[in-house]
Amino acid sequence: MSEVAAQQTTEQDPVIDLSLADAIIDKYIDLPGNLMPVLQAAQDGYGYIPRIVADHIAERLNVYPSQIYGVLTFYAQFHLKPRGKFIIRVCVGTACHVQGAPRIVETFFDKLGIGHAETTPDLRFTFEKVACLGACGMAPLAMVNDSTYGGMTVQKVDEIITDYRQRPMK
Ligand code: FES
Repeated sequence: MSEVAAQQTTEQDPVIDLSLADAIIDKYIDLPGNLMPVLQAAQDGYGYIPRIVADHIAERLNVYPSQIYGVLTFYAQFHLKPRGKFIIRVCVGTACHVQGAPRIVETFFDKLGIGHAETTPDLRFTFEKVACLGACGMAPLAMVNDSTYGGMTVQKVDEIITDYRQRPMK
Protein backbone atom coordinates (compact mmCIF):
# COMPACT_ATOMS: atom_id res chain seq x y z
CA MET A 1 0.00 0.00 0.00
CA SER A 2 1.35 3.40 -0.88
CA GLU A 3 1.87 6.23 1.56
CA VAL A 4 -0.54 8.29 -0.52
CA ALA A 5 -3.31 5.72 -0.08
CA ALA A 6 -2.77 5.61 3.67
CA GLN A 7 -3.20 9.34 3.96
CA GLN A 8 -5.96 9.82 1.41
CA THR A 9 -8.98 11.74 2.62
CA THR A 10 -12.42 12.63 1.33
CA GLU A 11 -14.75 15.48 2.18
CA GLN A 12 -16.68 13.34 4.67
CA ASP A 13 -13.79 11.49 6.22
CA PRO A 14 -10.85 12.69 8.28
CA VAL A 15 -7.45 11.19 7.55
CA ILE A 16 -7.99 7.45 7.46
CA ASP A 17 -5.20 4.94 7.96
CA LEU A 18 -5.91 2.11 5.55
CA SER A 19 -3.39 -0.20 7.19
CA LEU A 20 -6.12 -1.28 9.62
CA ALA A 21 -8.41 -2.18 6.72
CA ASP A 22 -5.56 -4.07 5.06
CA ALA A 23 -4.89 -6.07 8.23
CA ILE A 24 -8.58 -6.99 8.45
CA ILE A 25 -8.76 -7.95 4.78
CA ASP A 26 -5.56 -10.00 5.07
CA LYS A 27 -7.11 -11.93 7.95
CA TYR A 28 -10.26 -12.86 6.04
CA ILE A 29 -9.04 -12.85 2.44
CA ASP A 30 -9.21 -16.64 2.00
CA LEU A 31 -12.48 -17.10 3.86
CA PRO A 32 -15.51 -17.80 1.64
CA GLY A 33 -18.25 -15.23 2.18
CA ASN A 34 -15.76 -12.84 3.73
CA LEU A 35 -17.57 -9.58 2.98
CA MET A 36 -19.71 -9.44 6.14
CA PRO A 37 -16.92 -10.34 8.59
CA VAL A 38 -14.61 -7.83 6.91
CA LEU A 39 -17.22 -5.07 7.15
CA GLN A 40 -18.02 -5.93 10.77
CA ALA A 41 -14.35 -5.90 11.73
CA ALA A 42 -13.85 -2.62 9.88
CA GLN A 43 -16.78 -1.06 11.68
CA ASP A 44 -15.41 -2.26 15.03
CA GLY A 45 -11.98 -0.90 14.18
CA TYR A 46 -12.92 2.49 12.76
CA GLY A 47 -16.18 2.97 14.67
CA TYR A 48 -17.94 3.36 11.31
CA ILE A 49 -17.20 2.53 7.70
CA PRO A 50 -15.45 5.49 6.06
CA ARG A 51 -16.15 5.67 2.33
CA ILE A 52 -12.50 5.33 1.48
CA VAL A 53 -12.41 2.11 3.51
CA ALA A 54 -15.54 0.77 1.77
CA ASP A 55 -13.97 1.51 -1.61
CA HIS A 56 -10.69 -0.08 -0.54
CA ILE A 57 -12.48 -3.22 0.64
CA ALA A 58 -14.34 -3.41 -2.68
CA GLU A 59 -11.10 -3.17 -4.59
CA ARG A 60 -9.22 -5.74 -2.54
CA LEU A 61 -12.09 -8.24 -2.33
CA ASN A 62 -12.81 -7.68 -6.01
CA VAL A 63 -16.47 -6.83 -5.54
CA TYR A 64 -18.42 -3.92 -6.95
CA PRO A 65 -18.62 -0.89 -4.64
CA SER A 66 -22.38 -0.91 -5.23
CA GLN A 67 -22.49 -4.37 -3.62
CA ILE A 68 -20.68 -3.04 -0.55
CA TYR A 69 -22.92 0.01 -0.26
CA GLY A 70 -25.97 -2.22 -0.70
CA VAL A 71 -24.91 -4.20 2.37
CA LEU A 72 -23.97 -1.09 4.35
CA THR A 73 -27.28 0.62 3.76
CA PHE A 74 -29.39 -2.53 4.26
CA TYR A 75 -28.08 -3.45 7.71
CA ALA A 76 -28.74 -0.95 10.48
CA GLN A 77 -25.62 -2.10 12.33
CA PHE A 78 -23.40 -0.34 9.78
CA HIS A 79 -22.77 3.38 9.75
CA LEU A 80 -21.21 5.46 6.99
CA LYS A 81 -20.63 8.51 9.16
CA PRO A 82 -18.64 8.88 12.39
CA ARG A 83 -20.69 8.20 15.52
CA GLY A 84 -20.49 9.85 18.89
CA LYS A 85 -18.75 8.30 21.85
CA PHE A 86 -22.08 8.46 23.67
CA ILE A 87 -25.17 7.26 21.82
CA ILE A 88 -28.30 8.83 23.29
CA ARG A 89 -31.50 7.00 22.46
CA VAL A 90 -34.94 8.31 23.42
CA CYS A 91 -37.89 5.97 23.08
CA VAL A 92 -40.79 7.37 21.08
CA GLY A 93 -43.00 4.30 21.43
CA THR A 94 -46.63 4.76 22.44
CA ALA A 95 -46.19 4.53 26.22
CA CYS A 96 -43.26 6.93 26.19
CA HIS A 97 -45.02 9.24 23.74
CA VAL A 98 -48.04 9.70 25.99
CA GLN A 99 -45.74 10.23 28.98
CA GLY A 100 -43.99 13.16 27.29
CA ALA A 101 -41.27 11.72 25.03
CA PRO A 102 -41.72 14.46 22.37
CA ARG A 103 -40.73 17.13 24.90
CA ILE A 104 -37.71 15.07 25.96
CA VAL A 105 -36.64 14.69 22.34
CA GLU A 106 -37.03 18.42 21.66
CA THR A 107 -35.03 19.25 24.78
CA PHE A 108 -32.15 17.02 23.66
CA PHE A 109 -32.30 18.63 20.21
CA ASP A 110 -32.12 22.11 21.74
CA LYS A 111 -29.35 21.32 24.20
CA LEU A 112 -27.17 19.34 21.81
CA GLY A 113 -27.84 21.39 18.68
CA ILE A 114 -28.41 18.26 16.60
CA GLY A 115 -31.41 16.31 15.35
CA HIS A 116 -32.34 12.67 14.93
CA ALA A 117 -29.50 10.42 13.75
CA GLU A 118 -27.01 13.27 13.95
CA THR A 119 -23.69 13.58 15.76
CA THR A 120 -22.19 16.59 17.48
CA PRO A 121 -19.11 18.01 15.71
CA ASP A 122 -16.88 17.02 18.64
CA LEU A 123 -18.04 13.39 18.19
CA ARG A 124 -19.19 13.23 21.80
CA PHE A 125 -22.91 12.60 21.21
CA THR A 126 -25.09 10.88 18.64
CA PHE A 127 -28.83 11.23 19.13
CA GLU A 128 -31.46 8.73 17.96
CA LYS A 129 -35.19 8.37 18.38
CA VAL A 130 -36.03 4.69 18.76
CA ALA A 131 -39.07 2.43 18.94
CA CYS A 132 -40.20 0.75 22.18
CA LEU A 133 -37.23 -0.34 24.26
CA GLY A 134 -39.34 -2.87 26.17
CA ALA A 135 -39.42 -1.09 29.52
CA CYS A 136 -42.67 0.83 29.15
CA GLY A 137 -43.20 0.93 32.93
CA MET A 138 -40.24 3.34 33.10
CA ALA A 139 -41.66 5.73 30.48
CA PRO A 140 -40.54 8.13 29.25
CA LEU A 141 -37.30 6.28 28.70
CA ALA A 142 -33.84 7.26 27.48
CA MET A 143 -30.59 5.34 27.15
CA VAL A 144 -27.00 6.48 26.89
CA ASN A 145 -24.96 3.62 25.51
CA ASP A 146 -25.95 0.74 27.85
CA SER A 147 -27.27 2.88 30.72
CA THR A 148 -31.04 3.28 31.11
CA TYR A 149 -32.78 6.40 32.41
CA GLY A 150 -36.47 6.06 33.29
CA GLY A 151 -39.01 8.73 34.20
CA MET A 152 -37.24 11.26 32.00
CA THR A 153 -37.85 14.93 32.62
CA VAL A 154 -36.43 18.11 31.12
CA GLN A 155 -34.26 18.45 34.21
CA LYS A 156 -32.92 14.92 33.75
CA VAL A 157 -31.94 15.82 30.19
CA ASP A 158 -29.78 18.61 31.60
CA GLU A 159 -28.27 16.29 34.18
CA ILE A 160 -27.46 13.60 31.62
CA ILE A 161 -25.83 16.04 29.20
CA THR A 162 -23.80 17.65 31.99
CA ASP A 163 -22.70 14.24 33.23
CA TYR A 164 -21.61 12.91 29.83
CA ARG A 165 -19.93 16.16 28.84
CA GLN A 166 -17.56 15.64 31.76
CA ARG A 167 -16.69 12.05 30.89
CA PRO A 168 -13.41 11.29 29.14
CA MET A 169 -13.48 10.67 25.41
CA LYS A 170 -10.87 7.89 25.49
S1 FES B 1 -42.86 2.64 24.66
FE1 FES B 1 -41.00 3.37 25.50
S2 FES B 1 -40.18 1.63 26.48
FE2 FES B 1 -41.98 0.89 25.58
